[in-house]
Amino acid sequence: MPSYTLKVRRFQPEATEDDKRGAFWETFDVELDSTLSVLDGLLQVRDDQDGTLAVRCSCRAAICGSCGVKVNGQSTLACKTQLGEAAAEAARIARVDNSGAIGRVGTAAKDEAGPAAAAAEPSTDAAQDFPSSSTQRSDRTGREAELSVHDLPSSSTQRSGGSGREAEHSAGVILVEPMGNMPVTKDLVVDMESTHWEKYRRVTPWLLPSGPPPEREYIVSAEAMVDVTQSVACIQCGACVSACLSMEADPEFIGPAALAKAYRFVGDPRDGQATERLYDLANDPHGIYDCTHCFACIEACPKGVAPMNQIMRLRRLAGDEHEIDDVNNGRRHERAFVKNIEKKGTLDESLLLQESFAPGVIGKLKPSAASIKALLQSIPTAIRGIRTGKMRSVPKLIPGVHHKLPGDSQGHVQRIYERAEESRIELNLYVIGEGAEEDLLTGQEVPAADLTSASQAQDQS
Ligand code: SF4
Ligand code: SF4
Ligand code: FES
Repeated sequence: MPSYTLKVRRFQPEATEDDKRGAFWETFDVELDSTLSVLDGLLQVRDDQDGTLAVRCSCRAAICGSCGVKVNGQSTLACKTQLGEAAAEAARIARVDNSGAIGRVGTAAKDEAGPAAAAAEPSTDAAQDFPSSSTQRSDRTGREAELSVHDLPSSSTQRSGGSGREAEHSAGVILVEPMGNMPVTKDLVVDMESTHWEKYRRVTPWLLPSGPPPEREYIVSAEAMVDVTQSVACIQCGACVSACLSMEADPEFIGPAALAKAYRFVGDPRDGQATERLYDLANDPHGIYDCTHCFACIEACPKGVAPMNQIMRLRRLAGDEHEIDDVNNGRRHERAFVKNIEKKGTLDESLLLQESFAPGVIGKLKPSAASIKALLQSIPTAIRGIRTGKMRSVPKLIPGVHHKLPGDSQGHVQRIYERAEESRIELNLYVIGEGAEEDLLTGQEVPAADLTSASQAQDQS
């Protein structure tokens, strides 16, 4: 039976004054089949080695959503992550560290890989050298699994304490931590109330039908529900909330799970308040335009909900269908990006700010007072961008210095735009053709061709 080492981030709030340790790392060895889960490993530790280890679980089958944790820095379900795969991933991270590059590793995993690695920034080269984390999950070889179980410490229970950096050479050690962006209650159990459930309630997660109720039940065609099926699949595990980078910067952000749930009702043809919901979510400063499009929630979600995609759908409906100008200026900012790239091929930062906040200031020689005010208000943002290195070159802010693309490159970009306009499709768990969203909102049938695509995509997934 293979042996695995779990290195668990612990916090025991009831520790006595004499035994006050704060948060600490503790390692445990378990002997289990490689196809059993990290949750099985934790439960074996609790049963055989330390009954005080707190972990939340119920179904052990990726259904109830209660066992969310971080494994090797990645937010996920403990019961859906196999020990063999997790150890292989830990070994891969150690190999990346040895090669001097960093792939997709979380904070703790960087700690595990050593101080030098923790200080390094993920580089484009490194990202190209190693597969994306979704590929890693499905693409592991038996050889990698073999590599993962070597060099296990001999003692069955070791208190390591501190940051975990001393375990620099512990390739294959599986790091398990509580989810991020949530207060830790005890060990791996977090308080999901303020960061998850409160926000979930914030989006009014129930149907608000208009008009008198039908005599019997609401009739909805099965086809009309295809579009919301993906968000219906959410099990409220909070893994996306844990992974969300915007939430780290703005804890008030409504967040991926709640917004995916909001789309579930906006896209439901039985709901009569879709427009009101969109106005509400667009004009909340912590609403749909607070998402930075980083894909972390898509990677983390164990049920394929792709919360970011649902947020983008909300944005398209709010901006394109309802022309809602939001309080964060997000819609204009998005349009400025699209226009900027179409015109220049690469991002001309000197125009982005002006086009986002005050379109027409240069074009119209008499800018409106509101435009000037908005532009002036954005100056602190620009200064922060320069200070933090986001805007890497001040001269780039000077209009006219942006470099032109060589040859016909700009023509290529414009042709991509034209092609995209001609054949706009939305790739998702289901493939929905142009116009289908409108049809879904009005309760009309989705075109047969689109349903064929949808079922083909479902078959392939
Ligand atoms: S894509 Fe948006 S919602 Fe998803 S993790 Fe990134 S910032 Fe958060
Ligand atoms: S969207 Fe996915 S990751 Fe987020 S709570 Fe739902 S199932 Fe969990
Ligand atoms: S225990 Fe239910 S989802 Fe993991």
